[in-house]
Amino acid sequence: MTLVVAHRGSSAHAPENTFAAYELALEHKADALELDVHLTADGQLAVIHDETLDRTTSGSGAVATLSMDEIRKADAGARFGDGQFAGQGLRVPTLPEVLQWLPDGIGLAVEIKARAAVPATVEALRGSRVRAAGAVSVISFDEVAINEAHDLDPELTTGLLLVPSDRFERGLTYAVEHHHPAVLPWDGDLGLDPAPLLQHALALGRHVGCYVVNDPMRMQQLSALGLWAFVTDAPDVAAEALGR
Ligand code: G3P
Ligand code: CA
Repeated sequence: MTLVVAHRGSSAHAPENTFAAYELALEHKADALELDVHLTADGQLAVIHDETLDRTTSGSGAVATLSMDEIRKADAGARFGDGQFAGQGLRVPTLPEVLQWLPDGIGLAVEIKARAAVPATVEALRGSRVRAAGAVSVISFDEVAINEAHDLDPELTTGLLLVPSDRFERGLTYAVEHHHPAVLPWDGDLGLDPAPLLQHALALGRHVGCYVVNDPMRMQQLSALGLWAFVTDAPDVAAEALGR
């Protein structure tokens, strides 16, 4: 069964990478959550997509130059939609907070956005319930970062994200050579008929997960082809499309 992974939570409906978006993703029957991590100035793992607070919160400045206490002062609901989540106490979470909260049976894809965050991320996952359940993957566009994660914990499910237009076959070869179980292309690069690429990946023993799929017909096509996982902003759409 294809895994439906909520991209930064149910980010079409609630502020990305907040507990509001994660809780909604569970209501929308997502199998797993995807989130992004950066390292703060005081060595904590902030769950936020951008290098800075500016786009998604009421705060400003680079995550790497701020302490987690400083980051927590920002309203992580302030910039979503017409402000309906502003003032509700939404904050930038830490990875350990999410790990502690994550219900059993829900998977997690942790995207490392900054190389500096690799050791702390691997350490945070070690001993976590989701790791013990075999339901976590660590993913990154950064080959150095994902290779380091693998070296620090070879049993981790690691996945290489491919930027749009990066050749799938290149990524596949790289994943095999560097022992990453998963390769994660942009959906557009799988083409109108992803079957041959998926079959090649299967023959090489690699999982394929793609990002970001919001179209219900494409969800149905990918699911029928046995894709491992796709990331979506709208797991509610996936639930309906896949008849969950
Ligand atoms: O899961 C992959 C996807 O999250 C990668 O893109 O920019 O949303 O982090 P981005
Ligand atoms: Ca991401």
